[in-house]
Amino acid sequence: MSQLSSASSTLSAPLGVPNACIGIFDSGVGGLTVLSQVARQLPNESIIYFGDTARVPYGTRSRPEILQFVREIISWMLQQQAKMVIMACNTSSALVLKAVQAEFSIPIVGTILPGSTAAAKLGRRIGVIATPATVASNAYKQAILAIDPTIQVWQVACPEFVPLIEQNRVLDPYTAQIAQQYLAPLLAQQIDTLVYGCTHYPHLEPVLRLLLPPTVKLLDPAMAVVATATQQLDLLGLKNTAISPFATRFYVSGCPQNFAQSAQLLLGCTPVVEKVFLT
Ligand code: DGL
Repeated sequence: MSQLSSASSTLSAPLGVPNACIGIFDSGVGGLTVLSQVARQLPNESIIYFGDTARVPYGTRSRPEILQFVREIISWMLQQQAKMVIMACNTSSALVLKAVQAEFSIPIVGTILPGSTAAAKLGRRIGVIATPATVASNAYKQAILAIDPTIQVWQVACPEFVPLIEQNRVLDPYTAQIAQQYLAPLLAQQIDTLVYGCTHYPHLEPVLRLLLPPTVKLLDPAMAVVATATQQLDLLGLKNTAISPFATRFYVSGCPQNFAQSAQLLLGCTPVVEKVFLT
C-alpha cells in the first residue's frame, strides 16, 4: 500500500538517475493513450502510472483544486523516486503545468505545447475537443496561434465524454448521440483537423471516425508528447540504457478492480492495480 500525502517540503527528485522510473498520471484511464505511446517510443523505461480515479473528472474542477491534486501526485511520484513526470492530462497541463514546473525540480512534461505544435503542422482549420476547464483556459488556441496566427481554431467543451469513457460506455448509442452534438459546430466550420484535447478522447476514435468526413484528420497529441519526453531524457542524460525495465506498475486513488476492468477493455491486457490512499 502506498500513501499519497499532500505536497510536502520534499520538492526535488531524490535520485534523477537513468534507471529510475518515469511517472505518468491522469485523472483516470485517459493517460493510457499516452502510456501506449511510451511503450512504443521508450520501451526500455520503467513506468509507474497513477490514475486519480477517486477524483475524476478533473475537467469540471477549479484551478486551485487541480493544483492541489497535481502537487500531491507529483510529491508521491518523487517518493517513488521517479526521474521524470509525464502529465498525461490536458486539463492539468493547461491549468497548472507552469506552476508545478516552477515548484518541483524534476522534469515535468505536459501535453499542450507538443500537441499544438503537431496540430499547427497538420491543419489550417483546427477543431479542438477538450474538457470544459481546458477549453476555458484557451491553452490550445493560444499555443496554436502563437505558432501560426493565420490558422483558425475552434474549441468545443465535451463534459459528458470523460464520465462515459470511465463507465466503459464508449460503444453505448448515447455516446454517439452526444458526440454528434459536440462535433456539429466544428463540422459547420468545415474543420480539416480535429485535435483530441483530452487524453481520454482517443478511446472514442471508433465513434468519432464514423461521424467525421474522411478528409478530417484526427490528431492525438500523445505521439508528440512522448517525443518531447524522449528529447528531454536525451538532453538530461536520463534515458535508461543500463538495466531491464520493470513491468508497468498501476496505481489508482479509487477502485483498483474498476480500473483494471477498463484497462482490459481499452488496452486488451489486465494490469495489476494497487490502491493509493490519499491523506
Ligand atoms: N484526461 C484528462 C485530460 O486530458 C482529464 C479529463 C478529466 O478528468 O476531466 O484533460
